[in-house]
Amino acid sequence: MKTKTGTDKPWGGRFTEKTATSAETFSASIHFDKRLYRYDIAGSMAHAKMLAKVGLLNSAELEQILGGLTEIESEIENNTFVFRPELEDIHMNIEKVLVEKTGQAGEKLHTARSRNDQVALDMRLYLRHESQHLITLLSDLQKGFVILAREYLGVIMPGYTHLQRAQPVLLAHHLLAYYEMFSRDKARLSDCLKRINILPLGSGALAGTSLPIDRDFVARELGFSAVSANSMDAVSDRDFMVEFLAACGLIQIHLSRFSEELVLWTSQEFNFVEIADRFCTGSSIMPQKKNPDMPELIRGKSGRVLGNLMALLTVLKGLPMTYNRDLQEDKEPVFDTVDTVSQSLAVMADLLSGLSFNREILGHATEKGFMTATDLAEYLVRKNIPFRQAHAIVGQAVAYCIANAKDLTDLSLRDLQEFSGTITEDVFDVLAGEGSVNSRKTAGGTAESAVMPALEKAETDLGI
Ligand code: ARG
Repeated sequence: MKTKTGTDKPWGGRFTEKTATSAETFSASIHFDKRLYRYDIAGSMAHAKMLAKVGLLNSAELEQILGGLTEIESEIENNTFVFRPELEDIHMNIEKVLVEKTGQAGEKLHTARSRNDQVALDMRLYLRHESQHLITLLSDLQKGFVILAREYLGVIMPGYTHLQRAQPVLLAHHLLAYYEMFSRDKARLSDCLKRINILPLGSGALAGTSLPIDRDFVARELGFSAVSANSMDAVSDRDFMVEFLAACGLIQIHLSRFSEELVLWTSQEFNFVEIADRFCTGSSIMPQKKNPDMPELIRGKSGRVLGNLMALLTVLKGLPMTYNRDLQEDKEPVFDTVDTVSQSLAVMADLLSGLSFNREILGHATEKGFMTATDLAEYLVRKNIPFRQAHAIVGQAVAYCIANAKDLTDLSLRDLQEFSGTITEDVFDVLAGEGSVNSRKTAGGTAESAVMPALEKAETDLGI
């Protein structure tokens, strides 16, 4: 005898009690996974087309489903769709309304599908889109660095190690270092995309399906490069998200490193650069203040981006096969990282267009601090003095200068010859900042002759 059981849930058949309010509130994900609606609908449309192709839907049912899903999509876009927390997540919210709109046809949509392969699909479609968007944002940011490198091409500045003045470099060379970091970030995302772009749908709850589905058809419809090889892996694999969060972690770290430099460089102690007023804020008490809040916030947001990576790894640790509800905790870290990193990239790209470097201060900054001492040592090497001896000779010259409050450039030829008889008039070429920079002609070095091809290649690669 058929008794009336169940609740109002799509899965309520075997249940005799309504879900407790506390449990319902605790487990609902609709408030954050609704952002997947577009991908959920695209996935359902491809799935429905496949069901029709293999004869599990007739063409009238397919039309109804596609029409209903299109309507739902525009309702969500126009903010007229009512999300129901008691329906847990985006998948059941959409399916329920589809059934209300189309009746039996809608009830057939979930044939040969589980939310486990459905949610894996949605996240892959979502991250495919967001990874491509991040690559575009990274290119925009790189353009900013390259434009600045071109604008300030001749400007020399101190290069640092240990935040101590080390050797003179071209500002352009310093800026193009960030171009390189962001190139690698793009490459990492592209590589990650290879593993994102695998179709999990068709894995069912965990073990595949007895129904005659055509996974390759769905893969082609949705632009996936392959179908997953193991259904158990496909519903529980979140490696692609970890990789994505790790790649984003590095993007944010690179942004944070440049942010730190901007914070230092805009201080009065450095005064190397000025950030346009539109990207700065003032103090509520100190009228004179102009603070670099955007770089500080980008630097500060590294905390949450790295935290999100740790959060997901921790969720995954110790999960038995296959799908476990723990996996619902994968979404918020990913969404938060997407939002944080894309905003940080956009703000930084904007801010670059409002930077003005202080050419004079940068140039003068290389005059003090014995920054051409290494050049002098290499000069002696060219005079056939073994490098260790050359190092010691220059060390003595530096010690002499410190004791007498002089710089290397203040020494006369005769003074210099006290340290090594091999020194001749041509030494002054290497002691000047410009000569020093332009002598570092090795591939990847800071001489203008080495920076120029790097700059031109970057311009070509970015299409500027
Ligand atoms: N909201 C769920 C998640 O994000 C969807 C999959 C639920 N599957 C299940 N068997 N309860 O993981």
